[in-house]
Amino acid sequence: MNNGNDTASGSGKATSKQRRRIVLAAAASAVAGGAAMVLRPSGVIIPYPHGSPLIVELSDLPEGKLRTVEWQGKPVWILRRSAKELAALAEQNPLLADPDSQQSLQPPACRNQTRSLRPEILVAIGLCTHQGCTPALLGREGFLCPCHTSKYDLAGRVFKVGPATANLVIPAYHFASENQLLIGLDA
Ligand code: FES
Repeated sequence: MNNGNDTASGSGKATSKQRRRIVLAAAASAVAGGAAMVLRPSGVIIPYPHGSPLIVELSDLPEGKLRTVEWQGKPVWILRRSAKELAALAEQNPLLADPDSQQSLQPPACRNQTRSLRPEILVAIGLCTHQGCTPALLGREGFLCPCHTSKYDLAGRVFKVGPATANLVIPAYHFASENQLLIGLDA
């Protein structure tokens, strides 16, 4: 797997049809957003992040390349994973703090082993859930946070070895077309 990062400011221009869909979807999301939450052990209910739609083109994203875009002032990672990497995810489960993402933030449709809508595409907030440092991609081994060595697999699921206990946050997103990702809104 290529370790290269691809940082981009983010999006293509939305067509008028896409803009209309974004406005309608934003209104719907504002109404429906309260249903998508996780209850932390502390009893605090936290919603996964929505809003401020950003379109990202995926046609030029090769396998193994990590693209970073800025959304709501945060880095959002987009990674195209290989079939081999996806198959290896199941082997990690015994080593993970929250393998089924029960205590982690993601849209309900992403509470699965790949933590994604499409198996090959990972979309995640690129901030460590311990104290917010930016982890680095280590190829097939996943991501390592340099601050206190928390480690995440290629689905953003955290290993038990470090201080972080929650998986990387997955924002609301959907695919506007075959090669267009829309971050910020559910389908
Ligand atoms: Fe990542 Fe502490 S901020 S391990």
